[in-house]
Amino acid sequence: MCETMNKSRTVCKIISNELLTDQIFEMILECPEIVNEAKPGQFVNLYCRHLGRLLPRPISVCELNKDKGHLHLIYAIMGNGTKEFSTYNAGETIDVMGPLGNGYNTDTVSDIHLIVGGGVGTPPMVELCKQLKGRKIIVVGFRDNPYLVNRLKEYGEVYVTTDDGSAGFKGNVVEFLEKKSLKGSIYACGPTPMLIGVQAYADKYNLDASLSLEERMGCGFGACVGCVTKIASNNDAGFIYKKVCKDGPVFNAKEVLFSCN
Ligand SMILES: Cc1cc2nc3c(=O)[nH]c(=O)nc-3n(C[C@H](O)[C@H](O)[C@H](O)COP(=O)(O)OP(=O)(O)OC[C@H]3O[C@@H](n4cnc5c(N)ncnc54)[C@H](O)[C@@H]3O)c2cc1C
Ligand code: FES
Repeated sequence: MCETMNKSRTVCKIISNELLTDQIFEMILECPEIVNEAKPGQFVNLYCRHLGRLLPRPISVCELNKDKGHLHLIYAIMGNGTKEFSTYNAGETIDVMGPLGNGYNTDTVSDIHLIVGGGVGTPPMVELCKQLKGRKIIVVGFRDNPYLVNRLKEYGEVYVTTDDGSAGFKGNVVEFLEKKSLKGSIYACGPTPMLIGVQAYADKYNLDASLSLEERMGCGFGACVGCVTKIASNNDAGFIYKKVCKDGPVFNAKEVLFSCN
């Protein structure tokens, strides 16, 4: 069971924490309160035990099992924080805050939902696909070594791209969208260069698109201003700053001003 520490930080039991593929782990947590509230595209803050790692690590909601109250998270080992998480065992606990941020709108009416994930931007697409109604075309890109593909196949047609061509289409997801002329309402999550490409694709073909930004974060809940991004505005400057952790991480593609724009 979860034991509430304060408004939204909870101590959660680790149900399992297993290697899925090279450097990629799935952690399942028992946290019914978070699971009941969470939406696809939102994230949780995971806190390290190591006292030198004060900042939480944001990890997206991958899948929600409301019957069991289980939250599924998939994370890649990137540095010391995620490496520490990979050493945790079933039966232990971890401090979690969430759900945080604003997720995807799952009420969108569209003939085709075009779901685009890149690398660690792929996990949030599982719960999104589960909740979206209608036809789903799912395009997921990896450097190599794809994962989650079979789980995504339960919800729609899945296409895989890899940078090295070791699986699926050789190239990136945006090249694949162009090659197949895929059209629909786009939901994307992945590294910034991919999101810039998706934004340009949506603009070129006048498609609705929601982008989940992978900004580096400090607090993860709106207090430190460490995650601001430029959002288009009618003011003199042409933009305002918004916090990715609180106002996002999901934004309408039309309003995001990437720093290279
Ligand atoms: C809203 C949100 C949701 C996320 N969801 C997931 C998820 O579901 N699964 C997952 O594996 N990762 C996810 N991430 C990224 C994850 O938070 C970072 O990989 C993690 O915090 C790194 O911590 P660390 O201590 O292991 O590495 P650090 O030592 O902090 O960093 C190691 C390397 O990772 C890079 N890095 C750290 N944070 C980010 C980031 N936000 N974006 C891009 N590069 C980063 C650093 O620049 C550095 O090169 C998400 C990030 C955000 C902002
Ligand atoms: S991470 Fe602190 S305000 Fe967004």
